[in-house]
Amino acid sequence: MDNRIAITDLKAKKKRGERIVMMTCYDYPSARLLEAASVDILFIGDTLGMVVLGYDTTIPVTMDEMLHHTKAVVRGSSRAHVLADMPFMSYQASPEDALRNAGRLLKEGGAQSVKLEGGVQVAETIRLIVEAGIPVMGHIGLTPQSINQLGGYKVQGKTPAAAVRLVNDAVALEQAGAYAIVLECVPAQLAKTITERLAVPTIGIGAGPRCDGQVQVFHDLLGLFDAFVPKHAKRYADLGSQITEAVRAYAADVREGRFPTDKESFLVDKPAFISEAARIA
Ligand code: KIV
Repeated sequence: MDNRIAITDLKAKKKRGERIVMMTCYDYPSARLLEAASVDILFIGDTLGMVVLGYDTTIPVTMDEMLHHTKAVVRGSSRAHVLADMPFMSYQASPEDALRNAGRLLKEGGAQSVKLEGGVQVAETIRLIVEAGIPVMGHIGLTPQSINQLGGYKVQGKTPAAAVRLVNDAVALEQAGAYAIVLECVPAQLAKTITERLAVPTIGIGAGPRCDGQVQVFHDLLGLFDAFVPKHAKRYADLGSQITEAVRAYAADVREGRFPTDKESFLVDKPAFISEAARIA
């Protein structure tokens, strides 16, 4: 049996003042790489719709797509906590939908917990899912599934009223049983206040350095997605350019006849029988 990081370990990290490292992860090879780098939470975010599947937003992502990628990440890891996102309309229409779909991500996908977006308005849904034994991470601030309501990818909580709403949202999610809360694109000072107010960990993305942990999108950190690079993402590698250069070199070698050579070919010791085979065939 896998010995994975549990939500109790994540909560204990906050108590000890240890930062939690979370990163999006969408497939088997990436899961192996991130686990080798000791990432605590491998997160199958619905951003996979944009950075892997080429949709314009996260809205079209389906449960089947989330399950497909979650299973691959589970197969590629054994120690990290695997967290799966609930896609748009998998939990909004009814509590029954929410419970069934959260359950599918654990039963079929193999995740240890699920994440869903929203504040006070989803607190009862979170309570229901948690009471069924499924750990839930909340997500407030910029909630990309509500992009059509928010009118763009904008920093949230910038007015006194909006800041109060976000604090109330955070407290409502904690009271409903969320084991941690993502704060996306909120002023760093507000994120610090919310972090100090809650017993459960906050995980920031564009929320400054005082959260209990940080999450970033794999493709943003590694230079694999150029369509949009958020201000909060630091680029630790430029794998996109390296891949293009490597493939250019391969294409040139093929076109110029430099690849493959004997080194990459399968040869027999006594090739005479081959011309004989061609003659009698
Ligand atoms: O889907 C995702 O990648 C997310 C992060 C931006 C937190 O929800």
